[in-house]
Amino acid sequence: MGALNRFDLCRIIKEYKIPYFFETGTFWGDGVAYALQSPFKRLFSVELVPEIASKAASRFIDNKEVCILEGDSVSVLGQELPYVKGNCLFWLDAHFPGADAGLAAYNAGADEDLRLPLEKELEVISRLRSNYKDVLILDDLRIYEDGPFVNGNVPADALPGENRTIDFIYRYFGETHQVMKCYLDEGYILLFPRVGYKRNHFKWSNLFKKVAPEEDHYLINEPV
Ligand SMILES: C[S@@+](CC[C@H](N)C(=O)[O-])C[C@H]1O[C@@H](n2cnc3c(N)ncnc32)[C@H](O)[C@@H]1O
Repeated sequence: MGALNRFDLCRIIKEYKIPYFFETGTFWGDGVAYALQSPFKRLFSVELVPEIASKAASRFIDNKEVCILEGDSVSVLGQELPYVKGNCLFWLDAHFPGADAGLAAYNAGADEDLRLPLEKELEVISRLRSNYKDVLILDDLRIYEDGPFVNGNVPADALPGENRTIDFIYRYFGETHQVMKCYLDEGYILLFPRVGYKRNHFKWSNLFKKVAPEEDHYLINEPV
């Protein structure tokens, strides 16, 4: 499982003037808890599994700026994004419903769009957010391709059913965003709006909080 706390969110949201945070896949809420340390005005997180969503909602009951939503990420993004009127930092981390909590198998479920919703999530975001300069951090690149991931390639039961590729990321965001890949943990993709992108501000050493210099070779910047 990737960790949002690898990233210096304060730097990102300051550069792009981002008031909103939107996470898909809440799990126990550690991503939200970390995001709360940055000055977001409002934070949304969606979780498919009801018992996980309700535990996370209890955890943030006193944080009025946090909204935990229960449902499938694609539908909830479609419902909520029209009301998110400002730049947003997306942490797209929904996959394998209930599996990390030990409630289901990684290959459970017939609906691949629920099990691995990333492509559909990006389609909705690209369609509804053309007026905004959003930054997106995508977790678990290794689901979609092999590479020198620090935590190894993806186990067989977590592979996509078909079409294992990240072509869809370039299809939806290649024109508007700078695409950066990194092989730490299970792999991340970062998407920065080309408008306002300052290469010097987004060097990996600035983006990451916990990267030792010798790990630099795991980081690849891939301008398209
Ligand atoms: C890797 S965990 C998320 C970790 C969390 N983002 C964090 O930073 O601590 C993935 C979560 O996504 C949820 N999930 C899986 N498929 C989903 C879907 N289609 N819609 C919403 N949530 C989903 C799982 O139940 C699980 O709790």
